[in-house]
Amino acid sequence: MKTVILHIEFDAIIESLEGLETDQILLIVENSIKQEYPQQIERINNLNSKEVITLFVDGGEQVKEMGTFSQVLDYFITSGIHRESHLVVIGGGATSDMAGFVAATLLRGIKWSVIPTTLLSMVDASIGGKVGLNSTQGKNLIGAFHQPEYVWIDHNFLNTLPEVEWQSGWGEIVKYSFLIPPSKINFHQLQDIKSKQLIASCVQYKGRIVSGDALEEGQRRVLNLGHTFGHAYEKLFSISHGVAVSYGIASIFILLEQKEMLQLWQDIYLGNRCAVAPLPWTRDQFDTEKVFATIQGDKKRVAGAAIKLVTLSSVGNPLVKEISLEWISKEMERVRDELEQLRR
Ligand SMILES: NC(=O)c1ccc[n+]([C@@H]2O[C@H](COP(=O)([O-])OP(=O)(O)OC[C@H]3O[C@@H](n4cnc5c(N)ncnc54)[C@H](O)[C@@H]3O)[C@@H](O)[C@H]2O)c1
Repeated sequence: MKTVILHIEFDAIIESLEGLETDQILLIVENSIKQEYPQQIERINNLNSKEVITLFVDGGEQVKEMGTFSQVLDYFITSGIHRESHLVVIGGGATSDMAGFVAATLLRGIKWSVIPTTLLSMVDASIGGKVGLNSTQGKNLIGAFHQPEYVWIDHNFLNTLPEVEWQSGWGEIVKYSFLIPPSKINFHQLQDIKSKQLIASCVQYKGRIVSGDALEEGQRRVLNLGHTFGHAYEKLFSISHGVAVSYGIASIFILLEQKEMLQLWQDIYLGNRCAVAPLPWTRDQFDTEKVFATIQGDKKRVAGAAIKLVTLSSVGNPLVKEISLEWISKEMERVRDELEQLRR
């Protein structure tokens, strides 16, 4: 199934919802969105042609806990739903990860669509059908692939985005600036992270990659650039996903001694004046053993004592390398010390 991704205004989203092939919408809305956009939520709740069953949840990472997931399932199961119900989620990437997993499992799977409301969820999390929850052992260790029918991107939702979420979105956009061939992205676009064209370039790239490899058996793995270290940083230092991924990319370049790539990362990531998060830990907080232990638990671990890491031979040419965990462990102090030099 191929997801239809549209950049549209809210009126057109309402029309699309009216046109869905179902008589019942299960709506999951983040409380922050209900607060900031009450009229929009009201309009969805009052669709002409559908019954809408609405549930409000707190957004952010805690929504991906098993307890919340179980409460959401119970709420819908006791609300008279059926297999043709269509789940719609409005919120950031954490809420859409959880809601998509609800759609994947409820009645053995129902259709779903996303209205992303953060920069990061517009350029990345809402696209590709990776849905799931965190385990106490690590991020995204429980989940499924379940492609949404529609992703409706209304840039107006970004009007209320807090600064920290712009920083997170910028971190993930930097990933794309390394993956997308330079001929396909205008690096000047990177000056303006609010640019619709920049968001569209990222969306187009991810859409193309995932439509060729929905289950991450091949080329889709490149989208994990920065994520092995990134997930460890996100968990250990409680920082946003995108910032963690961006420092995760820098970590790979340091680990593999790719000095030119690291310099480019500094030029691009640290060069953006409006959305940079400075190194989000102190040297003492960076416990190399804990970081390494978290990396060891990552999903990209392969049988034996190695892990698959994404890097680049040049911008636009990613590759997956199998790297010995023993070697990574020996290099961790060097990675920590060279990251320290990136402090602004
Ligand atoms: N499934 C995927 O392919 C994929 C890809 C990348 C990231 N992710 C996941 O996405 C999550 C991060 O998502 P995120 O960066 O969107 O953050 P988020 O979902 O954690 O949201 C961050 C905060 O922003 C608030 N918020 C959302 N929209 C807002 C708006 N328009 N105005 C004001 N506040 C708003 C939320 O309530 C929340 O407090 C992580 O869990 C990550 O693992 C998934």
